[in-house]
Amino acid sequence: MAMLPTIEWQDDAVVMVDQRKLPAAEIWVRCRTATEVARAIKTMVIRGAPAIGVAAAMGIALGMRRSKASGTRQFATEFQKACDLMAGTRPTAVNLFWAIERMKRTFAAAAHAGASVSEIRDRLEADARAIHDEDVASCRAIGRVGAAYVPDGARILTHCNAGALATAGYGTALGVVRAAAEAGKRVSVLADETRPFLQGARLTAWELVRDGIDTTVITDNMAGALMRQGLVDLVVVGADRIAANGDVANKIGTYSVAVLARAHEIPFYVAAPRSTIDLATPDGAGIPIEERPAREVTHVGSNRLTPEGARIRNPAFDVTPHAYVSAVFTERGACTAPFGASLRAIVSQA
Ligand code: MRU
Repeated sequence: MAMLPTIEWQDDAVVMVDQRKLPAAEIWVRCRTATEVARAIKTMVIRGAPAIGVAAAMGIALGMRRSKASGTRQFATEFQKACDLMAGTRPTAVNLFWAIERMKRTFAAAAHAGASVSEIRDRLEADARAIHDEDVASCRAIGRVGAAYVPDGARILTHCNAGALATAGYGTALGVVRAAAEAGKRVSVLADETRPFLQGARLTAWELVRDGIDTTVITDNMAGALMRQGLVDLVVVGADRIAANGDVANKIGTYSVAVLARAHEIPFYVAAPRSTIDLATPDGAGIPIEERPAREVTHVGSNRLTPEGARIRNPAFDVTPHAYVSAVFTERGACTAPFGASLRAIVSQA
């Protein structure tokens, strides 16, 4: 399957496909500063938890490449500012904070070893590139782990886009679909459209059709009826943050899908790299949920759907309690209940 490049480091810029414009247009955005990368994350030019982490690391490295600081002290101050800038973009995906912390460790190790400003720059850039490449490798491994749970002929329902576009490539939930297809299994996908940003209708369908995988788009409110008719064999979704007890934050609507899956005795799987597991947050109640602009709900493109004067809510994520999760697929294997012990064991592996 042709690898779709979501984000790349090109000479003096970080280049990403504009996910707001897909599938109507394939437009590449060239970010030349850390501020431009932060804006791209916030406005969802790039989105999806692992891709946000990769973009933040590249944005920090880019910012430091652009820095005019000569002394290490000023360089360190500017580095901290670049990290804070990225941390202020989107609150829910823990991969963002994981990537920032990793860049901080790289900076500290280089500074501690007496590296010059130019050497620190090179190490930050090398680590950002490594985070990108490791993410692709993780997705492929997650895919192999998850594919073992996909029977031949499976009709798979997914919510939002946890595909190549949401990662450095290949995808987490869609990585499972791809790996099953690559292993010769016949699979088909039901893609929830995913109101309000339509990641499923626009992005998941675009990716899968491009790969020749049988794809049907449904509106979010159709999932229950199709499950009841026996048309769904399993659900696989991505995650923005998995708390220590296995509660999963993912795109708004995921919780409803999980409850429906349980009611119809359909397995509900979550596919995510270890960088999505947040052992410092005990349970889902501690996960910050991003509230996005009302306009994403009131409008589709330039068309207004709702009357002026109606109040609007737009929480971008929800939390699925761990009791609804059949297994979490990671690059190091599958976690099952009791999730506390299982997630800890996966995270503590070297
Ligand atoms: O708001 P988004 O589009 O960034 O939300 C994306 C999701 O909820 C994905 O399912 C999640 O980040 C996993 S991506 C591999």
